[in-house]
Amino acid sequence: MLILGIESSCDETSAAVVEDGRRILSNRIASQIAVHRPYGGVVPELASRQHLVHIGPTVAGALQEAGVGLEQIDAVAVTQGPGLVGSLLVGLCYGKALAYARGIPLLAVDHLEAHIRAAYLECPEPMAHPVMSLVVSGGHTSLFLMKEDSHYELIGKTRDDAAGEAYDKVAKRLGLGYPGGPILDRLAQQGNPEAFRLPIAKISDGSADFSFSGLKTAVLRVIQSNNIRPMVAGKDPEERPDILDLAASFQNAVVEALVRRTEQAVRKHRARAVLVSGGVAANSSLRSRFEALGRKLEVPVWFPSVALSTDNAAMVAAAGYLKHSRKEFAGWDLNADVELRLGENSRRRSRKYR
Ligand code: KG4
Ligand code: ZN
Repeated sequence: MLILGIESSCDETSAAVVEDGRRILSNRIASQIAVHRPYGGVVPELASRQHLVHIGPTVAGALQEAGVGLEQIDAVAVTQGPGLVGSLLVGLCYGKALAYARGIPLLAVDHLEAHIRAAYLECPEPMAHPVMSLVVSGGHTSLFLMKEDSHYELIGKTRDDAAGEAYDKVAKRLGLGYPGGPILDRLAQQGNPEAFRLPIAKISDGSADFSFSGLKTAVLRVIQSNNIRPMVAGKDPEERPDILDLAASFQNAVVEALVRRTEQAVRKHRARAVLVSGGVAANSSLRSRFEALGRKLEVPVWFPSVALSTDNAAMVAAAGYLKHSRKEFAGWDLNADVELRLGENSRRRSRKYR
């Protein structure tokens, strides 16, 4: 069973061919970072236009790298949402047209479920349920309780900024460039995480929700009160100890908030495994702190590899494979859904093919 996955929810155009929901034959990604960098963030209008430019060559490249022709593909899986509407429409239209022309099933995938399935692509053994699954990306910070495979109960989410968004905004404020996550991750490794006191966000109403806007404001206050000047283009941030220390202190506060919340949820729901996915799961400190949490709680912690943590289409194909096995095929009238909510209404849109 060969599935062609297509991902275009934000600023990466990606296409992949995955065999039997598990073996990645190709996973092409056309990055738009250079286009959005001058603006310090994704410009939706530019993103959709870039998807239009890249989608054809990216799909062709993925098929070629996999060594298969379009006639060998058994189904097309495409990200339905959540994401930027103009970006989603490009991938959806392209995927729909390919599936229609070939007369093969179209599979609509939730982007967050795809992030979670990225970990299954590489997991060497079956995960013990319940699994506590944290998705941390540029748009989402959500905790799902998975009592069984492919069953998601949303038990907590951010009330304001997503963790990745906080990274990107802080990096922008410091003049470090876009995307901020990988840059701050690298700089944080050279700084002192205790140099600046920053709040570890706590929601005290007993929920498993997150909040990062207070941290972002606290970082801005630290910048002002310590007169930390943003980086000047062309200069090396590694020669700025104040920025290295702030990066380390900020990263410490973000990771600590994620670990504490997840620990509470694991204990409360007696989870037997932890899964961390999404772009921020590429973070080096997050990985080591979650591994330490796993040792403390004596539960395995699973991450996708760094390459499969950020947006890619192999994870979309893997999620599509599950839909295919349940015969949850999308109709030709499939629409983008910018607010698709995994774990709240995940069964809403599935319907039988033909
Ligand atoms: O999942 P993703 O590729 O796209 C969304 O679905 O949003 O996540 C992108 C986010 C960005 O905010 C980026 O700054 C962040 O993931 N990110 C990181 C790292 N690599 C990517 N954040 C922290 N540390 C990293 N190493
Ligand atoms: Zn993502």
